[in-house]
Amino acid sequence: MKKHSFSSVILAAGQGSRMKSAIPKVLHKVGGQSLIDHILETLKEVDCKDITLVTAPSMEGTRNHFPKVHHAVQKTARGTADALLSAEKNFHNQDVLVLYGDTPLVQASTLQRALAARQGAQIVVLGMRPEDPAQYGRIFADEAGYISRIVEYKEATLSELGNNLCNSGMMLIGKEALPLLKKINNKNAKGEFYLTDLVQLANDHGLKAQVIEASFSELQGINTRVDLAEVEYSFQQRKRHQMMESGVTLLDSQTVYFSFDTKIGQDSYIEPNVFFGPGVTLAEDVYIRANSYIEGATIGAGSVIGPFARIRPETTIEAHVKVGNFVEIKKSILEKGSKVSHLSYVGDAYLGENVNVGAGAITANYDGFKKYKTKIEKGASIGVNVSLVAPLTIGKNAIIGAGSVVTENVPSEALSLTRPPQNNIKDAAKRFREKRTKK
Ligand code: UD1
Ligand code: CA
Repeated sequence: MKKHSFSSVILAAGQGSRMKSAIPKVLHKVGGQSLIDHILETLKEVDCKDITLVTAPSMEGTRNHFPKVHHAVQKTARGTADALLSAEKNFHNQDVLVLYGDTPLVQASTLQRALAARQGAQIVVLGMRPEDPAQYGRIFADEAGYISRIVEYKEATLSELGNNLCNSGMMLIGKEALPLLKKINNKNAKGEFYLTDLVQLANDHGLKAQVIEASFSELQGINTRVDLAEVEYSFQQRKRHQMMESGVTLLDSQTVYFSFDTKIGQDSYIEPNVFFGPGVTLAEDVYIRANSYIEGATIGAGSVIGPFARIRPETTIEAHVKVGNFVEIKKSILEKGSKVSHLSYVGDAYLGENVNVGAGAITANYDGFKKYKTKIEKGASIGVNVSLVAPLTIGKNAIIGAGSVVTENVPSEALSLTRPPQNNIKDAAKRFREKRTKK
């Protein structure tokens, strides 16, 4: 079959005023990724490279954010049809897939269904049946899914509002129907050029429009922060299912939060209340204990993290490493078999294989001006409550005595102690007590 080539246009010039935000709506995030990036990823899956983003003149910052797509500027927000026409020079004589910048969860498989339906219609609209149809436009279709018209909420009669088949806004417009865009007028309640009017115009010109339905959780648009939270919820549910289906155990799935790019290997086990920020990859058989916060990290097979661990960006943890409770790791490498089991901060550090860091040991990596590195070679053992004042290298198999403040390099196999010698004063405690109780 010949590949269906089409252009995509993402409409994002609306005010987004209901978000009450200084940030443009389409840069708000779901699963740690901007709404627009979600759409761009999905378009990659359907192999579309010809993409135009329509923004308002003021959205310079947004345009700079996306250097790899074409840009069109809609001078004033006069409606969705006008927005689409502002990208006209990028239609490139092909079918045009219209997406909304505020509708991020549409899936590639649904877009594929719309592309397939193009065989039987010149316009394909993505529709949904929300529990509460609220202010969505209503789609009027026959049993075969052929649409006669879409009625906007503001134009609809009470009986028309009884129809729960709603317009997601997204549609595929065949190139035969594109010239009709210019016939759309703004004689309506909002004084806007409604893209939805294209459907009736197409019918009047002997063209067909068809609806393809998908779930509300996939096609929901974001107008407010409440919608944003609902879409985030749908995204998390989708991720949770994907994880479990791919062989990851989530002990209490509703309390685990993923980012768009979280990757977890088979037979990994995630306890409750775990948050994965962007950039996390876990190998197989990783065990994440409850209440851990992990971002920007790669974790090797068989490692055990938490409970209450914080793993910060640019961290690589190899296989069979243990990071225990109340431990923070930042921008560090922990090689195979190392253990940092309790109450430590390890930052800007390299730990070779089988290093053991005792309870409360800390890398002092920052002098208030610059950050310095700590290198702990293979097999070294760091006692409890040690301060490792970087820059510093602890040699292979060295042992650092408890409580030491280490400021100079320690050679391999050495035992290093910086604490003052212990002084036991005979019966001094007893004398002290007697003095205090004497009248
Ligand atoms: C639109 C649809 C409605 C559908 C709903 C789904 C029309 C006329 N109505 O209504 O049928 O149920 O979406 O969410 O199309 N935009 C521009 N320029 C403009 C106006 C809008 O770029 O002048 C962009 C917005 O940034 C947004 C999208 O188009 O990404 C939709 O605009 P919005 O004003 O939210 O449309 P709705 O009133 O929700
Ligand atoms: Ca909307």
